[in-house]
Amino acid sequence: MSDVLELAAVSVVRGSKTLLNKVDWQVKEGERWVILGPNGAGKTTLLQIAAARLHPTSGIAGVLEEILGSVDVFELRPRIGLSSAALANQIPGHETVLNVVVTAAYGVTGRWREGYERADERRAFRLLNDWGMGPFLNRAFASLSEGERKRVQIARALMTDPELLLLDEPAAGLDLGGREDLVHRLTELARDDAAPAIVLVTHHLEEVPPGFTHAMLLRESNVVAAGPLEGVLTAEHLSKTFGVELDVTVNAGRYTATARR
Ligand SMILES: Nc1ncnc2c1ncn2[C@@H]1O[C@H](COP(=O)(O)OP(=O)(O)OP(=O)(O)O)[C@@H](O)[C@H]1O
Ligand SMILES: [Mg+2]
Repeated sequence: MSDVLELAAVSVVRGSKTLLNKVDWQVKEGERWVILGPNGAGKTTLLQIAAARLHPTSGIAGVLEEILGSVDVFELRPRIGLSSAALANQIPGHETVLNVVVTAAYGVTGRWREGYERADERRAFRLLNDWGMGPFLNRAFASLSEGERKRVQIARALMTDPELLLLDEPAAGLDLGGREDLVHRLTELARDDAAPAIVLVTHHLEEVPPGFTHAMLLRESNVVAAGPLEGVLTAEHLSKTFGVELDVTVNAGRYTATARR
């Protein structure tokens, strides 16, 4: 299995603040990672590196077997699907759902030709159907509910058939039904052998989809623990990560954490 991500002593420093401190991390093909940690721990910063949208201040970041800093990131980025609040904010509100997804392809082809357009539209349509958004093709993005937006963003992230899928808090702002629906869909995706390597950032243990294989815990720019999921998502590690004494339970592959009393 080849390395999808290979980070060696990656640090990101801004002024006097260290956003990431000497992070080592390997993600291999077929792996599904969840990254947990409190606000400001450095999760989004780490994802920005993985997305080839940010270079380390020091250390070496290998992304899809290219080294950041010695590769044209505009060739690398289409191989990576990213869904994040920052990207969603850049989508014009009047854009139709179909266009939000189909335009992800134009970053790749960089041209507007009838043949490409139709093939791209078919793929966008299929992805939107897969994510339960088939009936919304012509709706303005701004008119969607938060849950509907999140599913459109994931369809967009998958549009270029990426080798790496990065999801930064895809369940943020969803109600209980919406969260459960998304966890179910991500579980199915995780179990699909044809799906790319996945890295999912979340604050909530309840959002870890069954079928995810690995976890990383971040606290104050440092890795607390990383590796196969069961060994990482323990009461001890999670208590240290969130600075609260926690009890952790697992039921049918779903995790819950509650403060110890
Ligand atoms: N340009 C910058 N200069 C200084 N500090 C920064 C800069 N960019 C980000 N930070 C800080 O780096 C820290 C890590 O930010 P990051 O967005 O990676 O955290 P996060 O784990 O994703 O948090 P959240 O869970 O709230 O999304 C935060 O404290 C943030 O304020
Ligand atoms: Mg974040």
